[in-house]
Amino acid sequence: MSASFKSILLRSVMAGSMCLACLSAVAEEEEADRAGLITGNTSDLVSGEQIYTQICQGCHMPEGRGAQGAGRYPAFAGNPALASANYVVVTVLNGRRNMPAFKPVENFEFFFGPTSLNDEQVANVVNYIRTHFGNQFDDPISAADVAALHSEP
Ligand code: HEC
Repeated sequence: MSASFKSILLRSVMAGSMCLACLSAVAEEEEADRAGLITGNTSDLVSGEQIYTQICQGCHMPEGRGAQGAGRYPAFAGNPALASANYVVVTVLNGRRNMPAFKPVENFEFFFGPTSLNDEQVANVVNYIRTHFGNQFDDPISAADVAALHSEP
């Protein structure tokens, strides 16, 4: 093999690996974008509808119809568990089995930016799912109610 052919080969291998590196950088960015759906900046989400469509819908599906497959994502349409506002609040704050927790975690925001929901956002999204998708629970919960539920298991 001639020296110049070797160097061309070497260069094209290097170019190839550089390209792989940039592909994986793009993939990582896309990964981060998708994750941003759930863990991104939530501070501009105010209404229950905004919070639902940006955060909850990815798992619980449009119209709260839920999903069944690799996991079970409960539907909110006609779900009797929603009768208890406290149950819904505690689920959103603390998570439940495969569902992530959304209460603010100390020191977490320092690294990742706002990734959680404040008490008003939790109240808004809980009130939203309890009054949509065919649900008509008329006992809305307030941010103060949510604050009082932080210590519940
Ligand atoms: C990453 C996926 C995911 C996201 C995002 C998510 N959930 Fe869940 N949620 C789940 C799973 C999985 C369960 C079922 C947990 C279990 O095994 O009991 C669940 C359960 C629930 C339940 C209990 C339902 C029942 O029948 O007991 C409520 C209420 C709920 N989620 C509300 C919300 C709200 C409101 C949001 C948005 C703030 C949200 N979830 C975001 C995955 C998710």
